[in-house]
Order: sequence, then C-alpha cells, then structure tokens
Amino acid sequence: MILSKTSINGLFQVKSDTKTRLVTRNKVPGISVYGEQLLSINGEEYRVWDPYRSKYVAAFLSGMKKLPQIQDKKILYLGVSTGTTASHFSDMLNTGIIYGIEFSPKVMRKFFRLAEQRSNLVPILADARKTEEYSSYVFEVDLIYQDVAQPDQATIFGRNAHEFLKRGGHGFLAVKSQSIDVTVEPDEIFSKQMEELEQEFGFEIQQYHSIDPFEKKHAVIIIKKP
Ligand SMILES: C[S@@+](CC[C@H](N)C(=O)[O-])C[C@H]1O[C@@H](n2cnc3c(N)ncnc32)[C@H](O)[C@@H]1O
Repeated sequence: MILSKTSINGLFQVKSDTKTRLVTRNKVPGISVYGEQLLSINGEEYRVWDPYRSKYVAAFLSGMKKLPQIQDKKILYLGVSTGTTASHFSDMLNTGIIYGIEFSPKVMRKFFRLAEQRSNLVPILADARKTEEYSSYVFEVDLIYQDVAQPDQATIFGRNAHEFLKRGGHGFLAVKSQSIDVTVEPDEIFSKQMEELEQEFGFEIQQYHSIDPFEKKHAVIIIKKP
C-alpha cells in the first residue's frame, strides 16, 4: 500500500493494487467509529473515510478540490449527528476544535461517547435555529459546516454565520433538495439557496457542486463571509 498526501491537510490517499481510498490518521488507535476499515501503514493506523457516509469527502471525490481546510481550524458543525464526519475532522486537527450541535438526544448520546475519547470534540445538545442556546459556549470560528437537511437551511446558516463566523471565514453547506421541495428540480432549488445566501445574507459563493452519485439530489455550496 502506498500512502500519499492530498491537497487537504490531514487527508491522505492510499493506493493498493485494486483500489484507491481516502483515509485519516486514527487519533484513537484500535477504535473504529462507524464500522470503517482500519489500515496499518508504516507503523501508523489510518481510518478509511466512506464517501457514502460523509459529504465532505463526497465533495472532494466529486471534483471540489478547493474545499475549506479542516486542519487546525475552529469549526462550528451544525447537524453533527453521531459524529461520523466529525470523527475524521477530529483526526485531522492538531490544534483547533469542533463544536458539534445536534438537537436529537438519541443520536447525541453516541456523539457524547465519541467526545469522551477525543478532546477536540465539544458536544452541544441544541437546536441550530436557536443560537442563543449555545452562544455562551461557542466562540468565533473559522468554518461553519452545516448538514441539517431542513427546509430553512439557508436561514439557519445565515443566522449562525452572522453570530459566530469570523470575517474571511468559510461555510460548507450540504443541501438536500428533497428537504426543501420534492416537486421542484434540484438545480432550481440549489440556485435559489445560493441567491438567498448571496442577496439576503451577503455571502460570497465560492464553489457549488452536485455530489451525486454519493448522495442523490444533494449539492455542496462553499461560501466566504466578506
Ligand atoms: C444528515 S444528518 C448529519 C450527518 C452528519 N453530518 C455526518 O456526516 O456524520 C442530519 C443531522 O442534523 C440534525 N438536525 C436537523 N435539524 C437540526 C437542527 N435544527 N438543529 C440541530 N440538529 C439538527 C438531525 O438530527 C441529524 O442528526
């Protein structure tokens, strides 16, 4: 197996005879978080990152090579769920921190357990629509990563970015068209979301890409706060 760096710090590529996989170096050796494969390479352990379970790596494989860097960033993660993606972000950080917001107590329980093993994860049980519920725990961040699958996702993002994102900071929004309107063509929905982010909230749209076939009717939008 041959290990090499990618354009994203902390994200590696492993080539074997039969396949190429993306991996992160495991911060908690011996532990697989969501059933992902563990690989031992040059005396270090790596976790295979499944693009069907995570929109960040799906976006990378879909051709969005200029994704926001994760390493050593302060990140507000809206819709962290059980922490599948956040666990790989946690592997990628040396310094930096991930505030994980999730409103379902059932899935949050799992994320709490993950955070007990990984000191750069901060679990916060709260509704991402109610920033006042966590404004005393979250400080200015470099990146907001949002994956909430809600009809008002642009508004949720706008409110959080207004309050917590630094000037020049970035946003990664995973947009599921089916959560907004099943009767409208996905491309039309994505265009409307971008219009709202630009015109109502004043963000600069930097990139936009569909992440089919990893996630049907999903796109990723990258914004910058001027
Ligand atoms: C698609 S899943 C996220 C998967 C996760 N991003 C990952 O890659 O591991 C969406 C999550 O957002 C949560 N969610 C939806 N609306 C929310 C809200 N208003 N506030 C907080 N969490 C929310 C859901 O409970 C669910 O766990």
